[in-house]
Amino acid sequence: MTAAILDGKALAEELRTSFRPRVEALTAQGRRPGLAVILAGDDPASEVYVRNKVAACESAGIFSQKITYPKDTAPETVLAKIAELNADPRIHGILVQLPLPDAFDEKAILATIAPEKDVDGFHAENLGALAQGIPRFIPCTPYGVMKMFEAHQISLTGKEAVIIGRSNIVGKPMALLLINAGATVTVCNSKTRDLAAHTRRADILVAAVGKPRFVTNDMVKPGAVVIDVGINRLPPEAGGKLCGDVDFEAVKEIASLITPVPGGVGPMTITMLLANTIESAEGKHTP
Ligand code: GUN
Repeated sequence: MTAAILDGKALAEELRTSFRPRVEALTAQGRRPGLAVILAGDDPASEVYVRNKVAACESAGIFSQKITYPKDTAPETVLAKIAELNADPRIHGILVQLPLPDAFDEKAILATIAPEKDVDGFHAENLGALAQGIPRFIPCTPYGVMKMFEAHQISLTGKEAVIIGRSNIVGKPMALLLINAGATVTVCNSKTRDLAAHTRRADILVAAVGKPRFVTNDMVKPGAVVIDVGINRLPPEAGGKLCGDVDFEAVKEIASLITPVPGGVGPMTITMLLANTIESAEGKHTP
């Protein structure tokens, strides 16, 4: 069997088109959606992500503000900026790009973002709501994966779902979303004993481990749906290309559906950030 491709780029474009009338309506009411993105430090990958987020806002008609700080900035400076943005009526979403430089206490920073502007869905209040099955803001990457399941009518009830990766950004919220959807969920990590024994049971396999081509075809059940969240840059001697956590060429011969890298989950992440910012401006998550 050769898998069909889950085309995240096409779905992202379709969704972004559907956002236009909502942004226009909000703008006409004097509530143009606005996103503030804070970048502290000089992580090259983060710089690219932030640039792409701001560019996506621009093309969606969303107001955006990019705020950058050198890596030796005092955390208090960033906290003061967040307090200012919490009170700014032009801003409906605040995002602090992770990872932060070592001197920062990530949890303390995220805790100061007003939950009703937390478009990343990382605040404990929003993650708690998700855990209770009454989601408000949903973290963008797992939200995008759920949209892909929905668009392709992939039923989740009663399915065995295995996630490799336990991060706060992807693995944990992905697990909560799949639990809420009625799947039987196992969360593994790169150190799980006999990982393949778990992954081979998966009807739905989500790889979010950050290791290039970590998932090989012997780890995949024939006919599985394989979602590759990884974005890894191969070393120059290996061609320097982007690749996922899944050995795409081998696994596509055994899976029924698979996301490519690039062009799979990646474009959906930024799309769902736009969705969350619009939902915020619409007052959908205001208590
Ligand atoms: N770093 C990697 N992914 C993300 C994300 O979705 N949001 C933020 N804020 N930082 C990230």
